[in-house]
Amino acid sequence: MWGIKALTDSLRTDFLVVGAGVAGMRAAIELARHGEVLVVAKDSLKESSSEYAQGGVAVALSDEDEVSLHESDTIAAGDGLCSADAVRVLVEEGPERIQELIEWGAEFDREGSKLLFAREAAHSRSRVLHAHGDSTGREISRALYQKCASIANIEFRSFSAVVDLMMAGGRAAGAYALDEASGALLPIRARCVLLATGGMGRLYRDTTNPDVATGDGVAAAYRCGATVGDLEFVQFHPTALHVEGAPRFLLSEALRGEGALLLNASGERFMQRYHPMAELAPRDVVSRSIVEEMRRENSRHVYLDLSGRGSFVRERFPRIYETCLRHGIDLDQMAAPVLPAAHYAMGGVVTDLWGRTDIMGLYAAGEAACTGVHGANRLASNSLLEGMVYGARAGRVMTETAGTSAAMEPPPEFLVPDMGVDDLRWWSWTEAGLLRSGEGLNRLIARLNRAPMEQRARVTRAAAELRAMHQVVMLIARSALAREESRGAHRRIDYPERSDAFRKHSRVRSSSDEINFS
Ligand code: SIN
Repeated sequence: MWGIKALTDSLRTDFLVVGAGVAGMRAAIELARHGEVLVVAKDSLKESSSEYAQGGVAVALSDEDEVSLHESDTIAAGDGLCSADAVRVLVEEGPERIQELIEWGAEFDREGSKLLFAREAAHSRSRVLHAHGDSTGREISRALYQKCASIANIEFRSFSAVVDLMMAGGRAAGAYALDEASGALLPIRARCVLLATGGMGRLYRDTTNPDVATGDGVAAAYRCGATVGDLEFVQFHPTALHVEGAPRFLLSEALRGEGALLLNASGERFMQRYHPMAELAPRDVVSRSIVEEMRRENSRHVYLDLSGRGSFVRERFPRIYETCLRHGIDLDQMAAPVLPAAHYAMGGVVTDLWGRTDIMGLYAAGEAACTGVHGANRLASNSLLEGMVYGARAGRVMTETAGTSAAMEPPPEFLVPDMGVDDLRWWSWTEAGLLRSGEGLNRLIARLNRAPMEQRARVTRAAAELRAMHQVVMLIARSALAREESRGAHRRIDYPERSDAFRKHSRVRSSSDEINFS
């Protein structure tokens, strides 16, 4: 039991949504037809990965495109591990989700009156919509928030980190949230709970993700017995800004789509030596090539260059341009130093096609969930669409859970590893990052196991995040160790080939704690 400040007041709602990104808000809109919805966010409502997503939303809506082509591109990117049913749902329901979003006020970039579809690497058609050039996630979040705000049944609560799920009679019956202002834990009872907590990029030293992306949803689901899976598949984005003291801001793939070149420290182009598609090769290939080039030259970064085209970058990518300029880089005039950074988790809390987990009353959607839609590697620009399609689906079926009057079970012990967050992020970067080996993964697991676990006197957000990060890094390392092959975003230098024996999903739950493949 937690040795902490007494639990204070409690709240009760019909539906609890944890996370205020695209998946959470889209679910809330469905749920509000059937009862009261409380959406809780760990930070301000704006601080989600959705808000930071620059790179667009893929959808088969243009005259030259077909749903079946979007489907085959997604499956090809997933490297043998996509769930065909999950992909079909994504591509078939995607166009309707986008049309309704436009009706709710989302403004995507247009050419005249027609939607403007951009071409991106690994897409066989131009199908990626953007908003204000490079603020797509922000625009979608704005439209969804505006829609939510117009619905009386939806309430938001910011700065309320969910520390643990509340269980009653073996079912999810709410959550314990840390009220940041008072430091008190607030029990929130609900008929059922949706985890839409986003990703886990902060587990790594370098990431494009915001500070909130610490894998909280996956860790909380695992602690309460839900199956989690495919956690070894972490996608690294090739081009995050690398300026000392600045966050690793994403420099969208769309820059390379518009002709930006990658140059090594000597100022030479190198990607054509690694892949026939050069800068437009799949992003895991580009990321690994950058690392190889940095190793070869003993450099700390490479460069991304789209200079010399007048004011093109300023006009086409205003947010990227302004951010780089704040750090002394005028992209219209000069190349930016970049390196790969953790970007997206393909794995998560295992769900069916409707967001149901194997714990009654517990649902998951968006990056926190693992429907199998991304397989071993996500096709760029599929994640905002996933959030909307699967958020809406979860919202539709959560109403089937009637809730329980069983007594609340005590929350799990609040044990936190005695280790520094920066050390943890450095170890996962070096041992469970872009290139992995059995030796390195075993070293990481041993380090994590060595950290003494302390019962903290007080629950704080930082301690809760450290606990989640430690648990999820351990699960990533163990899953990566068990997968003795290279596939998609998972690269083992000691098992460089793909193996048919591993054309399976990894699964783990706390009751047996073994990594299984099915
Ligand atoms: C990007 O714009 O490069 C990122 C888009 C994505 O990850 O889907």
